[in-house]
Amino acid sequence: KNHVKIYSTGRYIPPNRVSNHDLTSWMDTSDEWIVKRTGIRSRYLSRGDNTSDLCIKAAHNVLEGSHVNADEIGLIIVATMSPDGQSPSVASKVQSAIQAGQAMAFDMNAACSGFVYALSTAEKILRHAPYSYALVLGGEVMSKEIDWTDRKTAVLFGDGAAGVLIGKTDESDQFISEDLHANGDKGEALTSGNRKVDNPLIQSDKSVSYLTMDGREIFNFVTRSIPDSIQKVIEDGETEIEDIDYFLLHQANARIIEIVAKKLKRPIEAFPMNIQNYGNTSAASLPILLDELAKDRTVLNGKKQKIILSAFGGGLTWGTLLLEI
Ligand code: ACO
Repeated sequence: KNHVKIYSTGRYIPPNRVSNHDLTSWMDTSDEWIVKRTGIRSRYLSRGDNTSDLCIKAAHNVLEGSHVNADEIGLIIVATMSPDGQSPSVASKVQSAIQAGQAMAFDMNAACSGFVYALSTAEKILRHAPYSYALVLGGEVMSKEIDWTDRKTAVLFGDGAAGVLIGKTDESDQFISEDLHANGDKGEALTSGNRKVDNPLIQSDKSVSYLTMDGREIFNFVTRSIPDSIQKVIEDGETEIEDIDYFLLHQANARIIEIVAKKLKRPIEAFPMNIQNYGNTSAASLPILLDELAKDRTVLNGKKQKIILSAFGGGLTWGTLLLEI
């Protein structure tokens, strides 16, 4: 059968925890402002590990939780908007480090929606592939993309990596329905890493730009689009909203998640959050949350739960998956 399921999850968080209080020694902000507007209390920042280092450690953790050897993996996708560089890709570095000698490997950038985009893509490639397993990671060192003098963005983001191993199965399919979108008209609401053309024909400033964000624009777009996207996958998945066990939303802002819960008329307990600990880790946020919930047996515990994964971010992009895991 052409069915696909999640075999294991894993994560790696750099060890350096930075509290809101710690930030106040570098910038004019307060624990109160950050908690009230975002729900964030701390984040973890890399002390030098780049995105591939975090992803390699997360990949080892994913594989430890499975009975699969790295050379059985045919595909590695890393969702990231903060790769080590343009080439080699983070995915290629992971492929080498874990010795996945049979795997094709590439990075995918859909900003904070990256993990949902990558998981959806990997699942489709896998269905038609001659191999049995794919590794999908989300990893970011957002702290290197940030202008640390801009308190409007610097307080929001954190570093980390996590992912899942998916594979073919004779059991029932776990991927039920999906809804993925982009609206490039609003692309300027979140920009990062721009480089100007610079060559013998035209000389420009060689610097790479830091992350900029129109927080209000994104806030409004998310609270309008995400409830509709979730409703759509539920309808297409021929299920009812009451039957969804957990709604895992990209951890960008606790207020956004509360508004989405209210709009969907579902209890906030069905929307697990860890933003208080990690801040916004962009493409890593959903797999970190999924791994935490899997490790404490809240999900992926053999109970066949209906789970929503929904993410949104730069592009603008957004996407929702309905899984039965
Ligand atoms: N500490 C203290 N004060 C601050 C800080 C700070 N860190 N940052 C801003 N302020 C001040 C501002 O200067 C402003 O003061 P003023 O009124 O005197 O000018 C005031 O607080 C309000 O600032 P706003 O930017 O208007 O604050 P807002 O209520 O919009 O909240 C926030 C900002 C938290 C960023 C919110 O807009 C938000 O969460 N948006 C969503 C962002 C998001 O979800 N991004 C996800 C996508 S990210 C991705 O794809 C990588």
